Amino acid sequence: MDQYGVVGHPVSHSLSPFIHGMFARETGQAMSYRLFDVRPADLEVHVRDFFAQGGLGLNVTLPHKIAARELAHELTARAAHAAAVNTLAWTDGGTILGDNTDGAGLVQDLRENLGLQLAGRRVLVLGAGGATRGVLAPLLGLKPAVVVIANRTPERAAALATAFSDLGVTHGVGFEDVGKEAFDLVINATSASLSGDIPPLPEGAVGSATVCYDLAYGKSATAFVAWARLRGCAQARQGLGMLVEQAAESFELWRGMRPTTATVLAALQARGARA
Ligand code: ATR
Repeated sequence: MDQYGVVGHPVSHSLSPFIHGMFARETGQAMSYRLFDVRPADLEVHVRDFFAQGGLGLNVTLPHKIAARELAHELTARAAHAAAVNTLAWTDGGTILGDNTDGAGLVQDLRENLGLQLAGRRVLVLGAGGATRGVLAPLLGLKPAVVVIANRTPERAAALATAFSDLGVTHGVGFEDVGKEAFDLVINATSASLSGDIPPLPEGAVGSATVCYDLAYGKSATAFVAWARLRGCAQARQGLGMLVEQAAESFELWRGMRPTTATVLAALQARGARA
């Protein structure tokens, strides 16, 4: 049977085996998908062994997304832009390809599942770390009027805004400097929710028509989603849809076919993971 899996540390909480298991059943693909808890020091040996033994593809999750770049023989353009890899694929030529499907997963969820049209709209991204870097190029591809990047450390936001300015209008600022005009979409890409912290945004940045979206899901997204609802936003979502859509994108890279995502997302929601 064709071998796939996800490497992370820790990884026992991962929903990826459930998601890819459903994709495989739906599309009639004979494949196994396993969890690999791998410490950073063991990543290279583990990945090389996996592919040497005939493995065909791996998802890569925290904390390995940056290190995995070095294990790929070549990167897709979007992985190079993101400076991180979440998918490794064995190619017909006997090499390892590194891809990043996170941004495409977010855009797919925003457009197809939430029905958002972002052309000409104002987008605010909170955070300036790896998660933000991974989604900026696909977001700017939707041609918003502006993407404001706000961060606790404003210099990091300014640096990212400059790095992506060839793709659209970007500004990098501190949280208190995002302005008082409501944004159409506010994306939380900080890890602040993990400690229950909410970025100190000015009143007005979130209005009654604003959609708020946390890239994380489960407990990590709870604080931001609750905060956004208290502010009276149009809707507040966690990133479960993005998780399923990035998985579909990885599955398509590996198997050459696109699984449907709606049933998987519904099944996850029914299991208690709120979207
Ligand atoms: P990731 O890959 O998840 O983006 P990261 O690169 O460590 O991880 O970035 C974490 C992001 O969350 C950063 O933008 C960080 O802000 P700083 O650049 O100022 O460190 C942000 N962050 C983490 N904890 C935060 C908190 N308690 N309040 C606000 N921002 C926080």
